[in-house]
Order: sequence, then C-alpha cells, then structure tokens
Amino acid sequence: EKVLGIEGTAWSLSAAIVGWDKVYAEASNPYIPETGGIHPMVAAQHHATHIGEVIRKVIESGEEFDGVAFSQGPGLGPCLRTVATAARALSLAYDVPLIGVNHCVAHIEVGRWQTGCRDPVTLYVSGANSQVLAFRAGRYRIFGETLDIGIGNALDKFGRFIGLQHPGGPKIEALAREGKNYIHMPYVVKGMDLSFSGMMSAAKEAAAVHPKEDVCFSLQENAFAMLVEVTERAMAHTGKDECLIAGGVGANSRLQQMLDTMCKARGAKFYAPPKKYFGDNGSMIAYTGLLQLKHGMTLPVEDSAVNPCFRPDEVDIPWL
Ligand code: ATP
Ligand code: FE2
Repeated sequence: EKVLGIEGTAWSLSAAIVGWDKVYAEASNPYIPETGGIHPMVAAQHHATHIGEVIRKVIESGEEFDGVAFSQGPGLGPCLRTVATAARALSLAYDVPLIGVNHCVAHIEVGRWQTGCRDPVTLYVSGANSQVLAFRAGRYRIFGETLDIGIGNALDKFGRFIGLQHPGGPKIEALAREGKNYIHMPYVVKGMDLSFSGMMSAAKEAAAVHPKEDVCFSLQENAFAMLVEVTERAMAHTGKDECLIAGGVGANSRLQQMLDTMCKARGAKFYAPPKKYFGDNGSMIAYTGLLQLKHGMTLPVEDSAVNPCFRPDEVDIPWL
C-alpha cells in the first residue's frame, strides 16, 4: 500500500510516494522569496508553475499508489487551492481515492513515524503556528497556542528587520550562538497560551542599541522558555511521558536542548525526528494519507474544498 502526497500550504512545494516502511520517491521545488516575506499570490504562482514537474518526478519513479493525499489546510488560500486542484485531477486520472490531510496532524504523524514515540505531547512550532497538542478522546487537542503570531513568523520578521534573507530562523540561530548578554524581553504566558508580538517590538528596539548577536540570543532564550513552560505544563496535566517536537522551528538545536533538559528533569523522553522532517515536506502528507486511507478517511472530489483555517482538533484520529 502506498500513497502519493502533495504539500503546498505556503513556501514548500513537495510531492512524495510513501509506503508503511519508507519514502519511495520525493521531489520538491520550494518558493524562496528574494526579498521580503511570503506573498500568497506569488507563492501560488510559483506552485502553479512547478507542480507539474514536481509530480512528474515522483510518478516517473515508477512506484504505484493507492491514493492521492493533499494538504487541505491550514495555509495560504491561493497555495492550498493550487495544490488541491492538482490532487483532484490525479485522483480522477488514476482512479484512486482522494485524501484531504490536515497539515498540523501531518507534522505530528511524520514525527511519530520517524521517532517511534507513541503518545506524545507535541510542541508544534512553525512559521504560522505555535501549538502544544496531545491526544485525548479521539483527537489531537490543542492545550495551548499563540494568541498572535507564530514563533517562526516572529523570528522571520525580526530577521528581515535586521537585514537577513527569508527565512530568518536558521540565521538567528547562528547569530544567537555568538551572543553573550541576556537583554530583558517581555515574557508573555497567559494560562496555557502565548504571545510573541510584545517581545518582537522589544527586540526591534533592542537591535538599535545592542549587538545583534545578543538580541538574537535573548530572543531565543525568552521565546523558547515560554514554549517549554507551556509544553511542560501540558505534560504534567496529561501525565504523558513523551515529548515530540514538530514544525520548521523544531530544527533549532537550542530549543531541542531546552526541551530535552525539561524532559530529563521530569523523567520523560524527548523525541526529535531527522532534520528533513521538521519543515514542510510531501512525505508527511503522504504518510498521514496512508493512515487515513486505512481508516476510510477519503473525500469525494465534489466535497474537497480547502480550509485555510483547518484546525487539528477537527480531525478524528482513529489510529491511536
Ligand atoms: P506551517 O504551515 O506549519 O506554519 P510553515 O509554512 O511555516 O508551516 P515550516 O517549514 O513548518 O513551514 O516552518 C518554517 C519556519 O521554520 C520558518 O519560520 C523558519 O524561519 C523556521 N526555521 C527553520 N529552521 C529554523 C531554525 N534552525 N531555528 C529557528 N527557526 C527555524
Ligand atoms: Fe508546516
């Protein structure tokens, strides 16, 4: 059994054919803006231009597939619609079921697949999203999340402000390693939720008077401590002893280190997938498609509209 999956919620355009044992084929053509951030219409135009070649590459691997999965949301509307159109056409042409996948659920499932953890509290940190999730009563419930911007977008915006090319996250990580002095930043945890916008303003102000290495260091220490605090509280509340990191910002080694320290202190285990599975990729959509296909979670073409605000707790998780 194999599924062809297509991801294209924002910058990443990627297709893969995945079976239960491994990734059989994968091809990508990411949209990387030369200046500024991700413009939804320009990203969608990029996807429309390159989706044919990306899909052709995985099909030319000669692998067969029993379903076509696509990222149905959340994401940028124009990008989602471009990918969904291609997926519907493939499903009809090859006469295989169409599977709509929630992008956040896919980040969790590929992490569980790649690390072997079973029932974790997941810290999902990407550009647009910052959520703490855990399985309870049939679904991944959101225990805490950002009230304004995602941590990735916050880092990218600050990066642009100090002249770094998009995406700023990895470059800020490198600069932070050279930072020595902690500059006070607003630490905003409200119950189980987080807010990063005040911290962003403070970082921009600090950048005018402090070395950028120190500001990057302080930004990371502050934001990651907030994320780890909420993750730990979700673990204490649910009694779970596994912690999984997912999403593009999860590639950050300082964040991983802080989560690992927190887990060790409470006798829990920290799981991080191989680096390539943090950011958006077609394999995570294909693998989640495989799980859904097994449980009959497919879509008729006429009922396969995308959902830019699709939340993970709208999806039944019968396989856990
Ligand atoms: P989503 O739709 O899930 O929000 P996304 O489109 O933001 O996904 P991802 O690939 O999951 O895409 O995440 C991209 C984000 O990850 C960017 O904001 C980028 O700066 C950030 N990022 C990547 N590597 C690092 C790193 N080493 N440290 C911090 N942030 C990073
Ligand atoms: Fe993502």
